[in-house]
Amino acid sequence: MTTADDIFDQSFDNLSRLGLNEIPFTESPVDLGSETLRHVFTGRENELRQVFNQFQSRERRRILIYGRLGIGKSAFLLKVLSVLRRKRPQMLTTYISLPEDLDLATTALIALAREMGDDPWAQRQLYQMGIPTEKVLKERNAEVGGTFGITGKIGEKDLPITKPSFPTVSLETLLERSQKKYPQGIVIAIDDLDKQPPGIVRRLMHDAQGMLKGRAWFMLTGHPIGMAGDLLTTERGLFDLQVQLKELDLPTTYQMLINYLSSARFDNDCTDPKDPRCVLPFLPETAQRLCEVSSGKPRLFNRLGNMILSTAADLQADLITPEVLEQGLRQAGPTLKQRASLSIEEERVRSLLLQKGSLSDESITLNELAELGFRSFSEILPFLERLEEADLAFQQDREDAISFAPVPLPSAEGDA
Ligand SMILES: Nc1ncnc2c1ncn2[C@@H]1O[C@H](COP(=O)(O)OP(=O)(O)OP(=O)(O)O)[C@@H](O)[C@H]1O
Ligand SMILES: [Mg+2]
Repeated sequence: MTTADDIFDQSFDNLSRLGLNEIPFTESPVDLGSETLRHVFTGRENELRQVFNQFQSRERRRILIYGRLGIGKSAFLLKVLSVLRRKRPQMLTTYISLPEDLDLATTALIALAREMGDDPWAQRQLYQMGIPTEKVLKERNAEVGGTFGITGKIGEKDLPITKPSFPTVSLETLLERSQKKYPQGIVIAIDDLDKQPPGIVRRLMHDAQGMLKGRAWFMLTGHPIGMAGDLLTTERGLFDLQVQLKELDLPTTYQMLINYLSSARFDNDCTDPKDPRCVLPFLPETAQRLCEVSSGKPRLFNRLGNMILSTAADLQADLITPEVLEQGLRQAGPTLKQRASLSIEEERVRSLLLQKGSLSDESITLNELAELGFRSFSEILPFLERLEEADLAFQQDREDAISFAPVPLPSAEGDA
């Protein structure tokens, strides 16, 4: 009889057959400071140069990183911070993903206070917001262990959770305190601004002007359609540098594949694109094909890579031959769609997109609009954005109009 343990072992063996100790592809970047990011992060030299040039200034700067969904904003931000941590030990770097329902100043306050473990006032701020801190947790545990354990517990529950009334002022105070310890400055990186609706982000940014003019360095990330596009036009001057991340070119994507595979391969960790062993278990031609199909979008690349390796392991293959690759891509098509769990309207928009090759306000006819049940192109936009989010479409770079094209997953087209 096959036990669950056997199945686990089998699963591990199948992957080992491909020469890998794990599947290296991930949806989102692994933690800040981890070795993995250091191994797999590829390209973006120009963008890194622009950002690091800013860091040669004595004066603090405000930097906006923007780009489409899954293009690598978080990975880029984490990369910048990890380099700063190594090169600027006298600088404090903090990272936070923008929480729902919080203004930017309170968010920055939390990011900073979390890094100031031995500052009682900072810890107090966190504690009042109901955010457990290491120090407080330790004290709690000691209390619970003591005679007044039960009262301690009840006391904690009763404590009202309060946001700071003047977060910008509290933040300034915290910055003042931390600057004594970190004379090279404090960096506050706030990721995922665009995960909030554009209207809210606009208000948040508006309210944050005071904070942004304060004494910290800021790095923010967003999507061009969401908050960034808006800021770029109407609030020019708010940022010292705006860096747009675009799709990676083919040679860089190929190098990225090599880096990912080498970080998980048993045998060798070679990274020379001319050496075919560096893309094992892929063959150079199938490696090339994965890179083409993912069209330079890091998250799509990771999703497809993941799907291809899982399929290959299931097939107990030891190489990704063209046949194995096509099977993996066929798997990916429906999975990407499932993940999106498209509504009927989205399906209709997608099939029109596939039919026409691209959609913009110029290329769509009134008839086509009427057939989809829409009156104007702008009514379709949210659906196209949702397809983009699910890696089933991408927005083309055009100066004059918003235009979308389908993500080419040739083998999956049959079921579209
Ligand atoms: N330059 C790169 N080199 C290697 N891997 C990358 C690179 N850029 C992004 N990735 C990887 O691609 C995946 C998606 O990237 P990431 O999460 O950074 O995108 P994002 O733009 O922040 O997405 P979202 O819009 O959802 O926030 C992650 O697993 C990330 O580690
Ligand atoms: Mg991100």
